[in-house]
Amino acid sequence: GIVASSEVEQSYVMIKPDGVQRGLEHYKDLKDKPFFPTLIDYITSGPVVCMAWEGDGVVASARKLIGSTNPLQAEPGTIRGDLAVQTGRNVVHGSDSPDNGKREIALWFKEGELCQWESVQTPWLV
Ligand code: TYD
Repeated sequence: GIVASSEVEQSYVMIKPDGVQRGLEHYKDLKDKPFFPTLIDYITSGPVVCMAWEGDGVVASARKLIGSTNPLQAEPGTIRGDLAVQTGRNVVHGSDSPDNGKREIALWFKEGELCQWESVQTPWLV
């Protein structure tokens, strides 16, 4: 499947919040942080939109698009910079490393839920 075998860098991107009530433990690395309980309350408070992005350097490019964790430090033109104010309500998630990209995609998607497609139009110029 795509999750386990892809050689291409992957980033899990989600429009928060939702469904850690299924025990997915998405934020397990942060479980000892003081903000962990409020983070879990937030992330389980409603539906999320899940995405698996794939491509060379996708982790860094997604993070650039998303902006800094604290929206007040995020550049204008980034999602957090334009659309968020508080760290605890920063709108969007993107994996912080290729390893976490694989791990998080495997947490949130089952085998067969991801699809790959190729444009039938002119291929990219090289
Ligand atoms: P983190 O992984 O440090 O940031 P990022 O989402 O940019 O990878 O933290 C995960 C989430 O935890 C972050 O998006 C918002 C929340 N959080 C807080 O609520 N307070 C904090 O002080 C920090 C550092 C994060």
